[in-house]
Amino acid sequence: MSAIYLLRRFSSKPFSRFHRNIFFSTFSKESSPPDLSRTTRTIFTQRSVSSSIWFFPQSKISPNRREFSTSVETNPTVKSFEKIHVQSGVIVERIHKNEEEEEETVSRVNVERKALREESEAEKEAWRILENAIVRYCGSPVGTVAANDPGDKTPLNYDQVFIRDFVPSALAFLLKGEGEIVRNFLLHTLQLQSWEKTVDCYSPGQGLMPASFKVRTVALDENTTEEVLDPDFGESAIGRVAPVDSGLWWIILLRAYGKITGDFSLQERIDVQTGIKLIMNLCLADGFDMFPTLLVTDGSCMIDRRMGIHGHPLEIQSLFYSALRCSREMLSVNDSSKNLVRAINNRLSALSFHIREYYWVDIKKINEIYRYKTEEYSTDATNKFNIYPEQIPPWLMDWIPEQGGYLLGNLQPAHMDFRFFSLGNFWSIVSSLGTPKQNEAILNLMEAKWDDIIGNMPLKICYPALEYDDWRIITGSDPKNTPWSYHNSGSWPTLLWQFTLACMKMGRPELAEKALALAEKRLMADRWPEYYDTRSGKFIGKQSRLYQTWTVAGFLTSKLLLANPEMASLLFWEEDYELLDICACGLRKSDRKKCSRVAAKTQILVR
Ligand code: GLC
Repeated sequence: MSAIYLLRRFSSKPFSRFHRNIFFSTFSKESSPPDLSRTTRTIFTQRSVSSSIWFFPQSKISPNRREFSTSVETNPTVKSFEKIHVQSGVIVERIHKNEEEEEETVSRVNVERKALREESEAEKEAWRILENAIVRYCGSPVGTVAANDPGDKTPLNYDQVFIRDFVPSALAFLLKGEGEIVRNFLLHTLQLQSWEKTVDCYSPGQGLMPASFKVRTVALDENTTEEVLDPDFGESAIGRVAPVDSGLWWIILLRAYGKITGDFSLQERIDVQTGIKLIMNLCLADGFDMFPTLLVTDGSCMIDRRMGIHGHPLEIQSLFYSALRCSREMLSVNDSSKNLVRAINNRLSALSFHIREYYWVDIKKINEIYRYKTEEYSTDATNKFNIYPEQIPPWLMDWIPEQGGYLLGNLQPAHMDFRFFSLGNFWSIVSSLGTPKQNEAILNLMEAKWDDIIGNMPLKICYPALEYDDWRIITGSDPKNTPWSYHNSGSWPTLLWQFTLACMKMGRPELAEKALALAEKRLMADRWPEYYDTRSGKFIGKQSRLYQTWTVAGFLTSKLLLANPEMASLLFWEEDYELLDICACGLRKSDRKKCSRVAAKTQILVR
């Protein structure tokens, strides 16, 4: 986006010095910045923000926890929040310590960590690259660029801070004991959420988080310049894809920040609570949907190009489920939030039922689909989505192992996408979207299909590749997404940290260690590529960036998680049995119709 465009945007609603002064004089070192409404222009200038400490006061660990919504409230008259308030023992312990004790503990942990483990050369280099990737705004660190490849003459938007890319960087910093950059990132992106955005005169929903942002220096007059944050909500992105996952990642990171630092004051702030609510309201808004899954266009997540993942892709559903669980934990319950909390609980329950029941495939289920009858018109049809058995791809019949299974890539009327998508499956494990048995089975499949999904370089973004006519029709003949390259079954080392978290949750860290060792052999020598190509991930990707930040950060985060299992455990969720009991459909009470959920529940629990 050109500077001219930027200035035009400013002048569409004049932003006078007077205005700016008022805005910045409304909060002080002790108070929080105001909650910005959609109509407030949010520009921070070098001169206005003289100190980052002033703008982001260091918060203390709150001694008393308020009521959170980590509970299930099916009946609005029953207030059961306190009763089933869930917290991990580690955090309860941390929040009762005073500040000095806290600092002492953190430094002791750091010393112990150092004493236990000597950093490898690859780790040392990775830290150097990560530090170099830091983006500063008015002197404070606010994120990391997507890539820092010195040989790249056309960085496109890789010089921006991507919300999704920053997550592994943030975790690496947090696990190292550095919270400031993450806190700044969360607060600044929150301000961008209120930005007025339009694509050809159309305004996307309030609450949308940008895909990325850039710090630009704008000349005010001959002698003065100021720094501005310039977000991209998709209006400049290739293909004009909608960054649906950004808000979900923002919520996930906000919770992780609280869990790892013990600083819960950030999520308690009114503007932060409003930010969570805006994202949730956008996700939970009524539409024409028939399913509890989130309906999105193609390319609305990590795979941000046309790849036939429009509709209800697993990646979005598992991040949505995780964000719902995070929000339920973080939202303070009061009159203004109780309806939203109830909607979140209902959605969590319906979503997990839907995914567990209809997205799951293993050898038994494939055999069932193979024998499906079609054109069933009834509420209790077996083949509810009218899937024609001929859709089962030939590769799958041979590929599916006796042990193990996975969650489908996508499900729509008469359409099952049988491709295996790594991120969606890993997050289903991490968030307990899948049942305990399904989660175990996904890792069994990973083990059985190691050569296909890990091969020479972890980890395939999806499996298998779209080839021939499928590639032509589904990708629109995309030369970047040729078979076994980039999003079309390329291998992305950044996915290592998500695999590591999933393995640790399931008590199988050795799988993650094995994958990490493979990556460590090559990443530094190969200059930290964005992705690898070919069936086995043998070659550095055709158009792959080098010194890709989330490759570096994913590697470091994996290492740190494995070295700190107690920290890793703060980032995943166990099965929530209360959720399984919620059923909001009303059919339960009626004699005439049977609720299919209730009928299937026992089955789902044991699967
Ligand atoms: C590519 C990836 C996307 C990532 C971006 C920046 O567009 O597909 O997931 O966020 O690069 O690294």
